[in-house]
Amino acid sequence: MEFSDAIQKRYSVRSYKCDPVEEHKLQQVLEAARLAPTAANRQPFQLIVIHTVGKEAELRRIYGHDWFVQAPLIICACSIPNKAWVRRDGKNYSDVDVAIAMDHLVLAATDEGLGTCWIAAFDPAAAREVLGLPDSVEPIAFTPLGYTDNQVGPKRRKTLTEIVKHECWQD
Ligand SMILES: Cc1cc2nc3c(=O)[nH]c(=O)nc-3n(C[C@H](O)[C@H](O)[C@H](O)COP(=O)(O)O)c2cc1C
Repeated sequence: MEFSDAIQKRYSVRSYKCDPVEEHKLQQVLEAARLAPTAANRQPFQLIVIHTVGKEAELRRIYGHDWFVQAPLIICACSIPNKAWVRRDGKNYSDVDVAIAMDHLVLAATDEGLGTCWIAAFDPAAAREVLGLPDSVEPIAFTPLGYTDNQVGPKRRKTLTEIVKHECWQD
């Protein structure tokens, strides 16, 4: 798939088939995240690959929607803030690093014909408990990974004029 096609075709999938994800496709998707850039190349993230079958009830504690546990796999992207680059003014870039890795993962999944959906509205306490996360690790985002069961319409986005300014901030 052309890069521009992957950008166009990716959308948030909220209905999945239970068909298995081939191991080589999973590896491609994880590899795309591994190759993502991170501030100062600190790579302060971990990806947890979770098989949903048999764990549905526990996983629903993390995010309650039925479609969350439909796909055979869920990936949890975690940051490790104390391993991340920190700017002189104290800003920790771990969230940014995880977001970039996650976006690589999501676009690679599209390229492999797989659906994903960024999930941030999960219960962090439940995620910590179910996944056994230590205090130094922060769950940032989840996504199901599987074959999609539906199609969506065109993207609703602001226009370029609305989001781009030239040379400096203008109100
Ligand atoms: C950081 C982030 C967090 C999100 N969290 C959720 C979520 O918790 N639940 C959900 O259903 N969608 C979530 N989404 C998906 C957005 O709603 C979706 O990307 C947006 O509406 C645009 O639609 P599209 O992804 O189909 O292009 C999230 C997306 C991002 C980037």
